[in-house]
Amino acid sequence: MLELTGLTAGYHGGTVLHGLDLSVPAGTVHAVVGHNGAGKTTLVHTVAGLMRPSAGTVRLDGRDVTGQPAHRIARAGIGLVPQGRRVFAGLTVDEHLRLSHRPPRRGDTTRPSVWTPARVLELLPRLGERRGNRGTDLSGGEQQMLALARALLGSPRVLLLDEPTEGLAPVLVRQIDALVTTLAAEGIAVLLVSPSPARAVACARTLTVLTSGRMTLRLSGEDARADATALDAALELTATGA
Ligand SMILES: Nc1ncnc2c1ncn2[C@@H]1O[C@H](COP(=O)(O)OP(=O)(O)OP(=O)(O)O)[C@@H](O)[C@H]1O
Ligand SMILES: [Mg+2]
Repeated sequence: MLELTGLTAGYHGGTVLHGLDLSVPAGTVHAVVGHNGAGKTTLVHTVAGLMRPSAGTVRLDGRDVTGQPAHRIARAGIGLVPQGRRVFAGLTVDEHLRLSHRPPRRGDTTRPSVWTPARVLELLPRLGERRGNRGTDLSGGEQQMLALARALLGSPRVLLLDEPTEGLAPVLVRQIDALVTTLAAEGIAVLLVSPSPARAVACARTLTVLTSGRMTLRLSGEDARADATALDAALELTATGA
């Protein structure tokens, strides 16, 4: 379970994220939806230890990991799939997998499941066909799969997904949605940030709308699927979906 309380963060003294409370139980997806600049990446970077919060706490299964450096947070079981994938241009798929493989410490029973390169390739067979290809030779969808593979190889308890379907064709968007659902069903707590309510509604147990770094709506996925009015209003979408 990932639990954020009063999380506050920003840049150069300016606050972007204003006291966010949010929890993601194991085995569920919590989607944070917000427009460009709402603070979604700031949120996941703060949870992942790439930025230090100015206030608030990040807890993983009750353990306070607030302000710890990124490598320790990753070691504790929080995996990040960054916006824009960030794969290495010059490394092959195989090299990415080898370098990202971080088995849990012996006796660590907190992981929903343990991932190896072989198991990741079973889940993402397309990567298996591209094992010798370098990052620059992969399509956007393949790069996204590789970014996901890297995070899984830390055998995470929590996955932070920053716009995992950005720029992908609809068929790949559906594949990623299905993967997110599969990974949550395995017991991973998934925090998904997205500008698109449609996608978030499809797979989330809970949704939070983030507007200028503040929560402006929280509702269940079930309620959002039954009636999108409140969500659309919070995102100031018109009836035509503009
Ligand atoms: N490195 C930075 N230095 C200063 N300000 C930043 C930095 N990164 C982001 N910001 C500002 O913080 C605010 C939130 O940015 P953030 O990247 O978290 O938004 P986002 O919701 O992820 O947007 P997008 O949908 O475009 O990815 C924006 O006003 C942005 O200009
Ligand atoms: Mg972003």
